[in-house]
Amino acid sequence: MTHTLPDARTGRPVTADDFREALAVHASGVVVITAQHAGAPVGLTATSFSSVSLDPPLVSFYVDRASTTWPRLGAADHFAVNILASDQAELATRFARKGVDRFAEPTRWRAGPLGAPLLQDVSAHLICLPYETADVGDHVLVVGLVAEARVHGAGRPLLYHQGRFGRFLAHPAS
Ligand SMILES: Cc1cc2nc3c(=O)[nH]c(=O)nc-3n(C[C@H](O)[C@H](O)[C@H](O)COP(=O)(O)O)c2cc1C
Repeated sequence: MTHTLPDARTGRPVTADDFREALAVHASGVVVITAQHAGAPVGLTATSFSSVSLDPPLVSFYVDRASTTWPRLGAADHFAVNILASDQAELATRFARKGVDRFAEPTRWRAGPLGAPLLQDVSAHLICLPYETADVGDHVLVVGLVAEARVHGAGRPLLYHQGRFGRFLAHPAS
């Protein structure tokens, strides 16, 4: 189904380019969602990660319904959210690339307490149990109940903005 609502001011339809350009201005953190499926690790890079609820502790991300990773990720009994650090742009690129073994060298990872892969040197990881999914447009909203949350180094987040990876620069303390 195609939706072409007119732009509120100009009356012109909002094009995919208008939409993408506006959204690209929104900077976001970068995570890699990982899981274990049929004994093999799976994972993909996502910027759609968000906190949802404190009680119960819920987080979410959106995955493209066309993703070939999603059927395996969605079938897993838990998943991990790996929050990337500023020097992990290559890892983010690798987990967005098709046709490569994303978990082969130089990716460094270990199996977490429930089995889902935990990537080495990330800022933090969360281990989540599936809580809810919903089809939303061309994506699936995935909500996870956080069973474990560990911070490894909070000060250096990887950010994504206008198609590029970068670092966070805090305003000088006033
Ligand atoms: C910075 C960045 C952010 C991304 N965020 C998402 C996301 O939130 N949801 C999603 O489904 N794919 C996202 N992707 C795309 C996936 O990482 C990946 O390219 C896609 O899953 C690969 O296809 P596959 O799932 O068929 O292997 C993102 C890619 C990049 C580079």
